[in-house]
Amino acid sequence: MSKPRIFSGAQPTGNPHLGNYLGAFRNWVEQQEAYENYFCVVDLHAMTVPHDPQELRSNTRRLAALYIASGIDPERSTIFVQSQVSAHAEMTWLFNCITPINWLTDMIQYKEKAERQGENVGTGLLDYPVLMAADILLYQTDVVPVGEDQKQHLELTRDIANRFNHLFGSQEQPVFKLPEPLIRAEGKRVMSLTDGTKKMSKSDPSELSRINLLDSPEEITKKIKRCKTDPIRGLEFDNLERPECNNLLGLYQIFSGKTKQAVATECADMGWGQFKPLLTETLIEGLKPIRERYAEVVDTPGYLDTVLQQGSERAAEAANATLHQAKAAMGLLMP
Ligand code: AMP
Ligand code: TRP
Repeated sequence: MSKPRIFSGAQPTGNPHLGNYLGAFRNWVEQQEAYENYFCVVDLHAMTVPHDPQELRSNTRRLAALYIASGIDPERSTIFVQSQVSAHAEMTWLFNCITPINWLTDMIQYKEKAERQGENVGTGLLDYPVLMAADILLYQTDVVPVGEDQKQHLELTRDIANRFNHLFGSQEQPVFKLPEPLIRAEGKRVMSLTDGTKKMSKSDPSELSRINLLDSPEEITKKIKRCKTDPIRGLEFDNLERPECNNLLGLYQIFSGKTKQAVATECADMGWGQFKPLLTETLIEGLKPIRERYAEVVDTPGYLDTVLQQGSERAAEAANATLHQAKAAMGLLMP
């Protein structure tokens, strides 16, 4: 019996941060043995807002190296760059032709990003979730581990699969498998360090709002020292009036490996002056292996290129099989 498949991806925009790690990468790593894994650097998605070509290139390499540094093992997982497997773009066109526009204009992330872009909204931004559906469905994916912000895109992916199967498949032989999201409770929504009601995001103009995975110990120390807190003594989880407190305790819990109950007891009588150095130390220690492994990966000549080359070959094989079926089902003349 073949293993069930996992597919996930992240955009090579900006600097990957704690939210990306806790909401995504960390959860990809843990499942590697039980699944057949595909992890994609979605560079075509990164072009849906204005971008700089040189930055896109270097961000793509950095993100792929960070996948490996976070513990994704190229021996057990296929790591590849989206634009190097042309089936993704082709499949998107086929899905475009069966996706109602209002499904796309309803997407929360589209509305938020479009508002930020003002006059400059490209067609690609609207079409973003269709490309994401192509990513997932091409691999006949069973499970998609993501952060909570991607839930709506996954529902849309299932809607597109259902519609395609209904229009062009048969009950006995659906063309696409329906994927399930996997959103882990811990770390599903890491909040900004400067505003506990906003999610930690690469697009926040303030560097102080996030901890990047490659931040030096000095940067981590500075960011925690300056992060937003409140004037109340004694720290607690789940008090809606204290979003920063909940977020910081949550980070400490995950990186210390302690239970929520243990952290709640440990920190119940602490002030911020005592907690911040503790959190700083825990984060520095927790991120150290990633920084070290990253340096190894990028310092080994040719290593990353080989991983990506092999990755795109393996991915193309799986993706082309599905693309072929979809084209035939839609009535395209097959050579
Ligand atoms: P992106 O960098 O937007 O491509 O996101 C890559 C992955 O990180 C996705 O699975 C997101 O859901 C996840 N992610 C991004 N920001 C956060 C956050 N603040 N908290 C938890 N997960 C996040
Ligand atoms: N839209 C996702 C994000 O911003 C990235 C992404 C693209 C993705 N294609 C995917 C995630 C397929 C999971 C599966 O985080």
